[in-house]
Amino acid sequence: MTQDRQGARGDPEPRGSSRRELEPEIRRDLSGTLSYGDYLDLHRVLSAQHPQAVPPRHDEMLFIIQHQTSELWLKLMVHELRSAIGLVRADDIHPALKRLARVKHIQHTLTEQWSVLATLTPSEYAQFRSALASGSGFQSWQYRTVEFLLGNKDPQMLPVFEHDREVHEELRRTLEARSLYDEVLAWLARRGHPVPEEVLERDWSQPYTPHRQVVDALAGIYAEPTRHWAAYELCEALVDVEDNFQVWRFRHLRTVQRIIGGKPGTGGSSGVPFLRRALELTFFPELYDVRSRIQDVRPGGYHGAAP
Ligand code: HEM
Repeated sequence: MTQDRQGARGDPEPRGSSRRELEPEIRRDLSGTLSYGDYLDLHRVLSAQHPQAVPPRHDEMLFIIQHQTSELWLKLMVHELRSAIGLVRADDIHPALKRLARVKHIQHTLTEQWSVLATLTPSEYAQFRSALASGSGFQSWQYRTVEFLLGNKDPQMLPVFEHDREVHEELRRTLEARSLYDEVLAWLARRGHPVPEEVLERDWSQPYTPHRQVVDALAGIYAEPTRHWAAYELCEALVDVEDNFQVWRFRHLRTVQRIIGGKPGTGGSSGVPFLRRALELTFFPELYDVRSRIQDVRPGGYHGAAP
């Protein structure tokens, strides 16, 4: 791989449900009772760690479990984000905010988790790294799904998943659908905010291009928060999510840097420089642009504030 960076309400059945999840039915004991382990399918989950290093290396277990737990949290994040998107589409903003609140906590957990992996020294990692061959987090389809759901669309990411037809198809559908940001902008337009037409109808599979008139529309909201409270709250929730995402990216970069230094990645990228470029990405560009437009308030001038 030589990729480089280019630059209805409710809880619909998560489209990620795959044949792998539908496999064996949940077991019950002879009395028909469901035990803790059976309900959680723990035998399967806890036997899904398959270290590859020969001879076996103690630290590979940490590496595997760190990735698996991240993927489980990503699965929940996808579930919550898909629901939030449906709720915004249905003008049901308060439950959508609730979903995003949970997303933010998942992000904190994912970010905190880097401290466990940071105990892996370069020498320990070097003992089993060759066993990974060209496997890389770059091939995480759930991570790419989260990026697409939030609004970082990039059709060039799809070929990475061509070997897995089901995953590829699912990602393509997500790429071609409206992102959370697209739905929020459409909702603002329905509420009478002047969002331009070309933002509301476009090819959703293409990267979003920031628009000056969107900044104007947001400036109206930020100038009078009390008048547009739901919109204001939703916008700030998006900023929280983007900030958290960037902190995760940054912690990933720093952990990678302390473990592999300047070596290229197993996925074939330049490694740390590649990850550094991701810090330039933004999901909700105008929500950051609008911040430089907000006027300082003179004493007694805050809109809607108590005297
Ligand atoms: C020793 C631990 C790790 C190292 C050295 C490492 C290294 C890297 C490198 C160098 C890349 C760039 C692509 C490549 O060439 O491979 C990358 C991408 C990525 N890694 Fe890791 N990583 C580690 C752990 C993790 C963990 C625990 C996760 C959790 C899921 C993860 C998720 C990702 C994702 C999602 C990408 C794609 C990022 C993007 O496209 O912006 N990595 N990693």
